[in-house]
This record gives sequence, C-alpha cells and structure tokens, in this order.
Amino acid sequence: MGNSDRAGQSAAADVIALEQRVGANNYAPIDVVVQSGKGEWLFDIDGRRYVDMMSAYSAVSHGHAHPRLVAALTAQAQRVAITSRAFRTQVLGPFLEKLVGITGLDKALPSNGGVESVEAAIKAARRWGYRAKGIPAGQANIVVAEGNFHGRTTTVVGFSSEDDYRADFGPFTPGFRHFAFGDIAALRAAIDANTCAVIIEPIQGEAGIRVPPPGFLQAARALCDEQKVLLILDEIQSGLGRTGRWFAHQHEGIRPDGLILGKALGGGLLPVSAFVATREVMDLFQPGSHGSTFGGNPLAAAVGLEALQVIEDEGLVERSAVLGQHLLQRLQALQDSQSVPLIREVRGRGLWAGVDLDPTLVRARSVVERLVERGVLSKETHDTVIRFAPPLVIGTEALDWAIDMFAEVLAEFAVAPANAVAVAR
Ligand SMILES: Cc1ncc(COP(=O)(O)O)c(C=O)c1O
Repeated sequence: MGNSDRAGQSAAADVIALEQRVGANNYAPIDVVVQSGKGEWLFDIDGRRYVDMMSAYSAVSHGHAHPRLVAALTAQAQRVAITSRAFRTQVLGPFLEKLVGITGLDKALPSNGGVESVEAAIKAARRWGYRAKGIPAGQANIVVAEGNFHGRTTTVVGFSSEDDYRADFGPFTPGFRHFAFGDIAALRAAIDANTCAVIIEPIQGEAGIRVPPPGFLQAARALCDEQKVLLILDEIQSGLGRTGRWFAHQHEGIRPDGLILGKALGGGLLPVSAFVATREVMDLFQPGSHGSTFGGNPLAAAVGLEALQVIEDEGLVERSAVLGQHLLQRLQALQDSQSVPLIREVRGRGLWAGVDLDPTLVRARSVVERLVERGVLSKETHDTVIRFAPPLVIGTEALDWAIDMFAEVLAEFAVAPANAVAVAR
C-alpha cells in the first residue's frame, strides 16, 4: 500500500469516526466517503470512482450536478432564495403550472421533503371526507397498503406495517386501515362508509420494488369511484420518469384524484415535493389551513421547474423505458442462467429494479459491499433485495458495466455459497 493510499484510508476513517461520534445512529451507511459527483458517477475522498446505481432513492434522476440545474440554482440564489409564502414571487406560478400540466391535475401545493406532501395529502383527504363526502366528524379513515413506505413523521410511521419504523414511537394517529397490496378483494373489504381515501404507492419502493398484478390500479380506480373514495398515489419514488412513463400509474391509463411527488422534483439539488390534486380536493384548503415556511420558495421553484423541463428536453422518460428494459432483461438473464439459485426474483419497471436474493445463500448487504469494492453503489432493502435505480441520464456503457460487476459478485457467491451462509443472519 502506497503512502497516499494510507493517507486516504485514514482520512476516510476520520470522517467516519467523526460522524459516528456526533451524529445520531439512525442510519447504517456504506462506508464510502463521497466527495463529488458528476452525472452517473460519484467520487470518494481518495479519488475512487463509482457508478451510482441508486441515485439517492430516485432523488438524483437527473444525475449529479446537472449543469442546467446548477445554473438555475445559482441564478435564482443570486436573485432571491427564500421569501416565505407571505409574499408572491415570479417563479412559483410557472413551476406549479408546469406540474399541473404534466400531471393532468388542476392545482399543486408545494412542500420540501416528501413526507410533508404526504401529510398535506392526508389533511386534504380527510377534509374532503367531511366536507364533500359527508363523513361524520372525526370518523374519517384512510386505507393504506401493507408494506407501505410514505416517510417518517409520527402519523406516517403510525400506519406503517414495519416494526422497525414504529417501535416505541407511539401513540399514533388513528384512522388508517390496511389491505394486502395488489389484492383488489382485500382493498374492497378494507373500504367502509367512512373511508375518504386510498393512499398507495403504485409500485412499492422500500418494500422491494413490488409491482402489483396487471389491472390492479385500474380496478382500484373503479372501486374508488364506485365507493366515492379518493385515490391518492404516492409517486415520490416512482414518478418523474423512473418507471419509463412520467408516472407509474400511466402504465394503466388511470388518473388519480391526488398525486404526491418529491425526490427528483428537486433535480438532485434540493428537497422539493408537491401534492397535486383536482380542484375539488385542493380548493378545500384556505389561507391558514396548511403551510410551510420553506415550501414553494423561489429557489425550490426555479430548480423544480428546470428539473421538469430537463426531463422533457433530454427525453429522460423514454430513456428510462429503453434502458430499463435492457436492465431488466439482463437481470432476468442472470437469474435464468444461474447455477446456484441465488436470485429468487427480478422485479421492476423502467430504470428501477429489485433483485430478490435467497437469504439462506447470500445476504443482500454482503452483495452491496462487494459491489462497492468493484466501484458500484447500490442499496439493499429488507435484507434480501438489491435495489438498482441509476440516474436516468446513465450511459449504456456504465449501466452494462455495473451489471457485469453484479454478475461477477454473484458468481463469487455461487462458487463459495458456504461462505455466504456463514455471513447470513
Ligand atoms: C414512496 C415514498 N413516499 C415518501 C417518502 C418520504 O420522502 P422523504 O424522505 O423525502 O420525506 C419516500 C422516501 O423514500 C418514498 O419512497
């Protein structure tokens, strides 16, 4: 090992030790210390290059440091960045106009992190339940899916079905009912006269890229219409081109009553989210009923508008469809050709794939760690699934190379399955 390697290692170790000493222990990050990023590439403090195969859970769909987005950010920062919503700015209207145009809905309410827009959707749904549907005061319920992930506020983890997210954080907000994701009969059974909304992810991301059976969203739409219930889709992770359409629900040709967006809306630079809905739903908010100091600030609006424009101008939705098909085909081919059945299932849509591994043969985290050694950054979810969600701007060579590395890592575990079992939990 050369001197510079040793110096690099100790610099990384120092960064990690500092963060561990003063930071809350609520994450278990891979010990890569990222220093910069460009497009689909990330560089660590030792100058090692990695292909980013997870793009901050879809927040970096545009790639790192997209020049047009950085330009929009800096230009707006020099003009005015934060005004609060006490005053109007020239940039908010055009941003929201673009959002409603792309979603086919009527009005938008901007926030910061994604979960804030989930909270806005919950408030809107309940208000609609009381004021439009006539549900008795305090009785409204919302139907959500088992395995859902909508964020981390106390209300939202309160209706999670994951113990890790909830343990000792109660008491929780009442008024949520669960159904088995993708099961239309279970959804029907969960809805009652006091249900104001069904809030679901069209494809469950954190649950491991779980795609519902074909026709499920259409059937859910019809059921919600029949029962006078709002259908609200959380497309914070699945939206804005990730699945090869602007929105995952478009694969089934439906229109939701409300749509929750985030992550890529901030162009990989800022937290920007929005609840977008029909006029009937959104007009139930009046001044004073909801708000946020930073939501819709001019900096966020300028970046959000440019983020949408870049997706359009660079054809990123189509790119996700084409490259996504290639990604899924190659992963599927890996599964079909394996001598040891490490891969149980390949799921996904567009540039968004989950590879479900057999935990008796290999731990997902171990695969992720071996990929890091080879220069590929990905993330496991739920111990058994490797998630691939590269920036939509990824080059075909980088994508193929990352898949090649994945194939090599699996081949290593296939020849040494005993080793893998030893590390399995
Ligand atoms: C579907 C979905 N909803 C909501 C959220 C929460 O977004 P944020 O972490 O920006 O609050 C996430 C984050 O992963 C998500 O995937």
